[in-house]
Amino acid sequence: MSMNVTFRQLKVFEAVARRLSYTKAAQELFLTQPAVSMQIRQLEENIGLPMFEQLGKKIYLTEAGKELYHYSRVIAQQLDEVEEILEEIKGVRRGRLSVAVASTANYFATDILAEFSRKMPSLTLSLEVTNRERLLELLEHNEKDIVIMGKPPEHLDLEAETFMDNPLVVIAAPHHRLAGQAHVPLEALREETFVVREAGSGTRIAMERFFEENDIHIQTGMEMTSNEAIKQSVMSGLGLGIVSIHTVAMELETERLAVLDVETFPILRHWYVVHRHGKRLSPVAEEFSQFVLENAAKIWPMPPYPHHLA
Ligand code: PGA
Repeated sequence: MSMNVTFRQLKVFEAVARRLSYTKAAQELFLTQPAVSMQIRQLEENIGLPMFEQLGKKIYLTEAGKELYHYSRVIAQQLDEVEEILEEIKGVRRGRLSVAVASTANYFATDILAEFSRKMPSLTLSLEVTNRERLLELLEHNEKDIVIMGKPPEHLDLEAETFMDNPLVVIAAPHHRLAGQAHVPLEALREETFVVREAGSGTRIAMERFFEENDIHIQTGMEMTSNEAIKQSVMSGLGLGIVSIHTVAMELETERLAVLDVETFPILRHWYVVHRHGKRLSPVAEEFSQFVLENAAKIWPMPPYPHHLA
C-alpha cells in the first residue's frame, strides 16, 4: 500500500481527532473550516478509508481513524520537536551546545565556557568531563558538538586545531627531598614511586611513552582515576605525580605542591578543539570553536613553573 499522506494532513487530522470538531480544529490551526474539511477529505482519499463518521451533529473516529490518531500524536510531537531544534540551529543566540573535555582540560574549560556564555546568555550548555578513552568513543559515535582533548588520534577522521600548550610536569609535596633542587637528573626519578592516572588517560599514555623513550623504568604505586586524587595523594606524600600544569595552578600558588625541576621535562603536549570531519556544526558550535581558538590562551594564562623548563 502506498500512502501519500502529507505532514500537513496529519497535523490537521490530529487536531480534528483530538477536538472531535472541525470548527475547533480550524480555530486552533488558524484555518477556515472548509480548509480543514478539505485536508481531511484528501487524507481519507489517500488512505482509502474514512477516518470519521458523523452521527447527528457529532463526529466520531472510525476504527481506522483511531489507529491513525494513535500514530499521528507521536508524529506530531516529533515534528514539534524537530521544528524547535531547527529553529535553534537557525538562531545562534538561542542555541544548545554540548561539549566534552578531557578531565585535565576541565581546569580551564569551565572558565572559557563561562566567558563564552556571557556573550550568549540564552545558551543551554552541557559539559561532560571524562578521560581520553571515553572522548574517543564520544567522537566515534558523533555524540558531542565539540571535544577538547590532547593530541587526537590518526585512526578517526577528525578536524582538530590546536590552541594552547599543555606541559606535563612532575609534582611533589613541598617538603620532598627533590623540591627546590635545580636540574634534577632524569635518573633520580628511578628511585621514586609515582602515583599514576588510569589506563585510558592521555596523561598516563604520554607519561609512559616519555619514560620508555628515555629508557627510564619508574616505579608506579597507586593508580587513580582523577587528577584531584593524584594531587591529594602527592600532597599526602604517597609519591610523585605527573600531571598537566593546568591542574595544579591553585596548589602552586598556595605552595601546597611543588613542580620539580627535572631535566628534559616538561613533556610538552597541546590542547586541541576537535570534531568529526564532515560534521555539520551548528552556528553556536562553530562560534564556540572559534572562540576557544582565539581566546583560550588569553582567558587562562599559563601558570608559572620553573622557567628554564619551558
Ligand atoms: P586525560 O587528559 O585523558 O589524562 O584526562 C587528556 C590528555 O592529555 O590527552
